[in-house]
Amino acid sequence: MDKSFWDGKRVLITGHTGFKGGWMSVWLHRVGARLFGISNGRVSNPDFYTACGVSSLYEKEYFEDVRDLVAMRASVSEARPDILIHMAAQPIVLYGMTNPAETFAVNVVGTANVLEAARAAPSLKSIVNVTTDKVYRNLEWVWPYREGDELGGKDPYSSSKSCADICARSFYRSYFQDLGVGMANVRGGNVIGGGDWARDRLVPDFFRALEVGAPITIRNPRSIRPWQHVLEPVSGYLKLAERLYGDPAKYSGDWNFGPRAQDCKPVEWIISYLRANAERKIDVFVEPASNDKEARLLKLDSSKAREGLDWESRLPIETALSYCLDWYVGYSNGRALKVTAAQIEEFNAR
Ligand SMILES: NC(=O)c1ccc[n+]([C@@H]2O[C@H](COP(=O)([O-])OP(=O)(O)OC[C@H]3O[C@@H](n4cnc5c(N)ncnc54)[C@H](O)[C@@H]3O)[C@@H](O)[C@H]2O)c1
Repeated sequence: MDKSFWDGKRVLITGHTGFKGGWMSVWLHRVGARLFGISNGRVSNPDFYTACGVSSLYEKEYFEDVRDLVAMRASVSEARPDILIHMAAQPIVLYGMTNPAETFAVNVVGTANVLEAARAAPSLKSIVNVTTDKVYRNLEWVWPYREGDELGGKDPYSSSKSCADICARSFYRSYFQDLGVGMANVRGGNVIGGGDWARDRLVPDFFRALEVGAPITIRNPRSIRPWQHVLEPVSGYLKLAERLYGDPAKYSGDWNFGPRAQDCKPVEWIISYLRANAERKIDVFVEPASNDKEARLLKLDSSKAREGLDWESRLPIETALSYCLDWYVGYSNGRALKVTAAQIEEFNAR
């Protein structure tokens, strides 16, 4: 991270109360960015936002719904961002299965509203639209997906993110390109890290169970996912935001930020590692009728980010999981922000 670049920049983050938004906020605050946030409130209780006092890092927070275009126009216009990171979303696959219309509304219409509002922001130079590895049409094969591969998420969450990706590209080609504003869709993997308490995600489910000493039930134990520590994609998004700012035409487009191939592990491997290294042991059960609507095999090819941005995944999966274990110990001792800052520094030094 180039501190001289970020110092004093006005950065608007949608989804700033969330898990990724929280880590990004702490990092950007440390390099002197002026922060503005749009979110519709806390995502869980407890949450990273409260544990790390994220609110105090913000110059202004707008608690609005991205489905409300009038509110998006007012907030973006007041925030006057130089850089926009759009992350607000309904991000849970299982929630999307039972609430498809809401998921499409938040993820697709919400993206269109934020970008529509951004068209009128005079100082805006760089937009990063956060989608996911799940945007690709999953062929259940061993090869990792590349940026040019066909989109086509199957379940409502994945599909809504494919749509958001296409929507953002349309805004770029129709408006931002001519305005000289850089815009990229960024696709990360399955993110892990301290401070995530979302429901129906493996690592949060594990720490919730660990806290009370209850057993954990996992689904699809042999599913392989591109696990990565939250600092990995966040470092990629921020590096790209910098480059888009300086050379919008060169860096606009789609970018994968995935883990190394050897870090894509099955669900059962992740749980075994956490269980073996946690302070106390809990029982693990496998759900008998696993959900076959979720993709079983998903890998991302990050060659473009390696070549074009000199971005590289830095943490082996074992280290990423140790960061998670350390974070929750720190949190339970009232040191969440200290551990977060220390992990950012350690990550940066690699
Ligand atoms: N966590 C992952 O594994 C992962 C992987 C790939 C992509 N992503 C993407 O990264 C982004 C952030 O994910 P996260 O894990 O931090 O999620 P999160 O649930 O922790 O945070 C979501 C954020 O969006 C905001 N939000 C949700 N609905 C909103 C609405 N209607 N109006 C305004 N704000 C709203 C929430 O307030 C919160 O700030 C999402 O776009 C998600 O799809 C996450």
